[in-house]
Amino acid sequence: MNPPRSVRITGWGAYAPPNVLTNDDLAQVVETSDEWIRTRTGIRERRVAGPHESTATMAAVAGRRAIAVSGVDPADVDLIIVATLTPDHLTPATAVLVKEAVGTPRAAAFDLGAACSGFVYAYATAHAYVSGGLARHALVIGSEVLTRFLDWTDRNTCVLFGDGAGAVLLSASDEEGGGLAGLELTADPEGAWRLWIPAGGARRPSTPEVLADAQQYLRMDGRETYRYATRTIASTALTAIEKAGWTPEEVDLFVPHQANVRIIESVAKSLGIPMERIHLDLDRYGNTSAASVPIALAEAVGEGRVQPGSKIVFVAFGAGFTSGAAAVTWTADPALGSRADAVSSEPSIHAPADWDAGDPVPGPLAAILARTKQEVPA
Ligand SMILES: CC(C)(COP(=O)(O)OP(=O)(O)OC[C@H]1O[C@@H](n2cnc3c(N)ncnc32)[C@H](O)[C@@H]1OP(=O)(O)O)[C@@H](O)C(=O)NCCC(=O)NCCS
Repeated sequence: MNPPRSVRITGWGAYAPPNVLTNDDLAQVVETSDEWIRTRTGIRERRVAGPHESTATMAAVAGRRAIAVSGVDPADVDLIIVATLTPDHLTPATAVLVKEAVGTPRAAAFDLGAACSGFVYAYATAHAYVSGGLARHALVIGSEVLTRFLDWTDRNTCVLFGDGAGAVLLSASDEEGGGLAGLELTADPEGAWRLWIPAGGARRPSTPEVLADAQQYLRMDGRETYRYATRTIASTALTAIEKAGWTPEEVDLFVPHQANVRIIESVAKSLGIPMERIHLDLDRYGNTSAASVPIALAEAVGEGRVQPGSKIVFVAFGAGFTSGAAAVTWTADPALGSRADAVSSEPSIHAPADWDAGDPVPGPLAAILARTKQEVPA
């Protein structure tokens, strides 16, 4: 395959599970309040994956929506990358399960682990494949079911996160220009133990003792993470913008990782950009880790905030500590987004006949969701 003239986003899509968990609902689980969560984070509610949903099923819906928007035949997709820190299984890769549901007969498929920066890392990886002529169409997905990796007795973490998936299709183009203009990826091992899941991997496999000590759940030093995030998001975004030959004032829309509105406000201040040029949806989804940037992107395009020629910046940070920013010139017709409406939200992924996932929804949430039955369209 010959290298293309440019690599462009030709499709986009998102999926959020219909179950809504409000701050008031959470106050029934841990000692917290709507007021505390709203003022410290900006989050009002988040989505929770249902018993039959998983990282793979949500990724498949978002991925199929992105392919539908692009108009590309699924048979022409060469690569699927799923960025996630909450894979369905340690192995096989979630991307392989997604491949079955998406119906892409010849796509290579692998997962990528860069926590909340995962989408930007995966975007960069897929861009390299397509720009190098190794793939013509690459599906990049961020998908997470964080609610199954949280300690529902730890108010420092459980109020922050939610479930969801977002995707883009990157395609080789014969036209000049557009697409990735500047990229910056960083990783700082100093932060490795500030945000982590101690057990369930090779260093500390799951045992009854590990489970009793809740070591299979996410742990976080919130203050240190906050300090790192504000500093690093600003510097990573600025480096990507400078590599593109742009200035922050020229950027039409920032699509940042949606962790905490105070972090985003602080970054906006240090870059000298008004909040109106930043897309925010964390009030409704919380922090969906690798899914947060592509969910926000799909929403921003749907709201008409992006037009061909728009200069946009994806920027994220997360466990590791990792961070990534991509300065991208938008090329697609936003109206094509309506093609995603026809995609069913019930993908089919087979499981071994002699195995059953049971009901994976954490007990405290299952009880609340059964009581509240708050459902909005996905
Ligand atoms: C977690 C975070 C919102 C806490 O906000 P904060 O203003 O720094 O709050 P502090 O950590 O100083 O805690 C203040 C108090 O609130 C308490 N608190 C923590 N979570 C609470 C909750 N959900 N409800 C009520 N009180 C809570 C703390 O126990 C602490 O009480 P103490 O002073 O008696 O010890 C903030 O540190 C943060 O956003 N960090 C980054 C997290 C993040 O983005 N992680 C993902 C990275 S991808």
